[in-house]
Amino acid sequence: MATEKTLVLIKPDSVQRGLAGRIISRFEEKGFQLCGVKLIHMDSSRAARLYEPHLGKPFYDPLVKYMTSGPIVALCLSGHNAIEQVRTLMGATNPSQAAPGSIRGDFAQRVDYNCVHGSDSAESAQRELPIFFEPGEIVDYEANYTKWV
Ligand code: RTP
Ligand code: MG
Repeated sequence: MATEKTLVLIKPDSVQRGLAGRIISRFEEKGFQLCGVKLIHMDSSRAARLYEPHLGKPFYDPLVKYMTSGPIVALCLSGHNAIEQVRTLMGATNPSQAAPGSIRGDFAQRVDYNCVHGSDSAESAQRELPIFFEPGEIVDYEANYTKWV
């Protein structure tokens, strides 16, 4: 499995609870590199673009309302098998089933306020990253920077 880039969103509840730094640390401690970071308050059209695959599902309207309720932190993370490994670090969608030690297992209680989003496939990452980052905003460490470690 090659190096991959994935989108993570630290959801409004986590940002408001002051958990953004600790959540970012979980990914950094695992060795994923921060290639993009942005604090933004999504409007409903950006949220609709992100959640287009969920349009029509019963949780769609509350999800869009929640995700547009306050600032989020958008991350582009890079690493080996990053898409799957980031989802493992996040834990199950429903925090009541998420393992202790996972982000949702440790920081969340409810499926509707579950702390973080992570792209669920290579196709999703490719679709979702441009919703938050212009190509020139994503750092390419291997191409552009000296490797210090
Ligand atoms: P995410 O997209 O946030 O990484 O989460 P996921 O892949 O694990 O879950 P997904 O099926 O894509 O659902 C997206 C988000 O919708 C909310 N949800 N609520 N009330 C419910 O039954 C329900 N189901 C999903 C969650 O916030 C979930 O993360
Ligand atoms: Mg999802």
